[in-house]
Amino acid sequence: MFQNSCPSVLPHAWDSSGLGALRVGLIGTGVVGSGTCQVLERNAELIAQRAGRRIRLVMAAARNLHKAAQVVGPDVALVRDPWVLVRHPDIDVVVEVMGGVGLAKDLVLEAIAQGKHVVTANKALLAEHGAEIFAAADACGVVVAYEAAVAVSIPIIKALREGLAANRIHEVVGVVNGTSNFILSKMQDEGLDFAAALSLATALGYAEADPSFDVEGIDAAHKTALLAANAFGADVPFGQVHAQGITALDPYDMVCAQALGYRIKLMGIARQVADAIEVRVHPTLVPQSHWLAQVQGSMNGIWVNTDAAGPTFHYGAGAGSQTTASAVVADLMDVARCGAAGDAGRAALRVPHRSVKASAVRRWPVQPIGQVASRHYLRFEWVDDPALQAEWPRWLQAHGVEVQDMLQVPHTDQPHRKAWVALTSSVRGDDLTRALALLSQGTGGPAVAAIYRVEDLA
Ligand code: HSE
Repeated sequence: MFQNSCPSVLPHAWDSSGLGALRVGLIGTGVVGSGTCQVLERNAELIAQRAGRRIRLVMAAARNLHKAAQVVGPDVALVRDPWVLVRHPDIDVVVEVMGGVGLAKDLVLEAIAQGKHVVTANKALLAEHGAEIFAAADACGVVVAYEAAVAVSIPIIKALREGLAANRIHEVVGVVNGTSNFILSKMQDEGLDFAAALSLATALGYAEADPSFDVEGIDAAHKTALLAANAFGADVPFGQVHAQGITALDPYDMVCAQALGYRIKLMGIARQVADAIEVRVHPTLVPQSHWLAQVQGSMNGIWVNTDAAGPTFHYGAGAGSQTTASAVVADLMDVARCGAAGDAGRAALRVPHRSVKASAVRRWPVQPIGQVASRHYLRFEWVDDPALQAEWPRWLQAHGVEVQDMLQVPHTDQPHRKAWVALTSSVRGDDLTRALALLSQGTGGPAVAAIYRVEDLA
């Protein structure tokens, strides 16, 4: 049975709310859960002064109680069964940092039904089930806060929903997966191979429980869907978000991109185009001089282009323990300001879950990736035939693809190997695929070895 061993919650001098401490139940005591405990404890006074109330961790649910006790300390009740926690009457807000979309979803919905606010770092859960969860929260007058779900240390949800609230947002483009950016940086700058760089990212606590989410672009797609939801007041069907990761990226393409003045980054792109939105994740060439090309290691960077503020750039750690806890605790402080759990009136004053009131959330059509137009990078296997080399750009042009830059790039490690690389003008993906298929059939070559999109982000 849960015994609250914490001191009683009488209002103190710093308690401007008259509500006493905000009582927190924590599900998950791993990387993010432990960081949250450390920040709550170390900055307790500062947090209370800023939030107007003390924030007190009273219960934690974890599979390994022995390990969890070392994380949360002696004054916090521990349970193995998270259902006890989400139903406990002495908890005002549930912090869900266990991850996954099965049990986590059921627990979050139960916490909401019990009138508790929820703070979560679970991007998969909200990208895939956000509509249902936000509707339940609105119906129960509670808040689901999720700053930690996107680009951990960077307050980008707050920036989109509050700081930039007066703007029409045209596009949000970002490096939003710390693990894959760390891997790409290690491959490009230190010559590590993919597997070694991934092992290092996992050891440092950056990668997801299933690292294929990081390297296949799925984690970045979850985050980009949440960015699009907030930028455009959108209900984004996650199944329509294009996700391509970095597992098939040949380091030779990083060398070729550099020769053209670009770097390759795994980029999440959310953009409004006519009456649709683009929401996509894939390796992308960005100019070396752009802010986004400078985002290295496990850092994240997000470029937000707006009508009034113009372009803004947001930068910070993209993965880690206290870096994520920073956002979790800031959300707890927002919840503390909302009032008592179930106080629908005050919760309703908080910014809406997807930046516009629920009735204004719109299901924008998401453009299929083949219909998205952009410049492209092409790498062709070398063909030792000057006549053909001169011919194929003209041939592509005749099929609607203008080749703007063309270079011959030798391979740094394999001197016998070289390739033609080229940048195209803006062309839809489907049209480019068709033209390239006709090229290899019509002229007998050359075969294209790699295709990536380019974002110039002027
Ligand atoms: N695995 C994630 C990343 C953690 O590498 O970005 C932060 O969401």
